[in-house]
Amino acid sequence: MISVEVPGKLYVAGEYAVLEPGGAAVLVAVDRYLTVEVTPGERGPAARRSVTTARTGPRPVELGRSGTKSIVVEENLGTAAALRHVLTAVELVERYAREQGYEVLGFHLDIRSALDDAGTGRKFGLGSSGAVTVGVVRALARAYDFELPGDALLRLALLTAFTVDPRCSGGDVAASMIGGWVAYRAPDRDRLAREFALPGARISPLVDRPWPGMSARRVPAPQGVRLAVGWSGTPAVSSGLVELLRRGVAGDTNAYARFVAASNTCVATLVSALESGDDASVVTAVAAAGALLRAVSALAGVVVETAELATLRRSAEALGAVAKSSGAGGGDCGIALVVPAMAGQLRQRWRDTGIVPLELQVHQPFSAKGQYR
Ligand code: PMV
Ligand code: MG
Repeated sequence: MISVEVPGKLYVAGEYAVLEPGGAAVLVAVDRYLTVEVTPGERGPAARRSVTTARTGPRPVELGRSGTKSIVVEENLGTAAALRHVLTAVELVERYAREQGYEVLGFHLDIRSALDDAGTGRKFGLGSSGAVTVGVVRALARAYDFELPGDALLRLALLTAFTVDPRCSGGDVAASMIGGWVAYRAPDRDRLAREFALPGARISPLVDRPWPGMSARRVPAPQGVRLAVGWSGTPAVSSGLVELLRRGVAGDTNAYARFVAASNTCVATLVSALESGDDASVVTAVAAAGALLRAVSALAGVVVETAELATLRRSAEALGAVAKSSGAGGGDCGIALVVPAMAGQLRQRWRDTGIVPLELQVHQPFSAKGQYR
């Protein structure tokens, strides 16, 4: 049995702007994990494949085939939809395997997520679709024993994410794959989709070669401030907000282009501040990223920073810390960067104002849990 543990993620800066080709973001992987265990079976075209996940109940779901696509054999209400990242990951890994001359492998996948609240099932927005994508790709790549370097595995996981949702940036996938603090620049997904859709297109060239404009790498954590995470109490659906924002800014493409340029500059400043250990500039850049999001939210008429997230930010600011909404907003979590001496006080203030402080640390990429494979 092969087991991989994949960390969840949170956005630090660059949300929405990272959806544009070359758009930049900084994220952190956090120490809540999704686990994928794979038990390899027989090889060959008739090899049986099945999946167990909490989302589809205790019974294993048997996977069938329709051409190169993986499908759910016995479709109960919503099973295929609940498994769409898993099914697409399986399909792309198998396409890659066939192109590389491997015989198709049977398997059972057991997926368990600790990314949502264990007791209540409350969704915090720690990136379960990104993590499940990374987990299935990593687990199956190990079961096949592909000789794939980390960046190729990341491209395979990103292709999976873009196939399921052509509009996502892939930042969550990069953070869950790489771990720690991550600087990400999104590829041109329309261009990738065009290459991928060509008749007889092979997946291997896309997996094996770098993509123009895309980059994903680990950057150092700040030294003097630490991450604090607060939950707003409201779950949010990112894809819905992305669509609303897209429609909201459609009438003012120039203003949106200015937002994207300003966000990219802000993220570039943040990345160089992290790399040079300049905590003061890290803090200023994160504050600027939050202000840019509030401005674009006003432009689009979409609420990114909800009343709770504004409270979360103001409590932090009152203590001299910096804070902002994280991710698409509209609920989920906010993040703060706070000097360690003030961290306890910040958590208390959050509690006093109805924000739930989460016991999260940045995932440590060099621990046993943080390897690419
Ligand atoms: O809310 P989250 O953590 O899923 O983040 C969404 C971030 C966006 O930039 C708005 C969308 C994306 O795919 O990058
Ligand atoms: Mg979110």
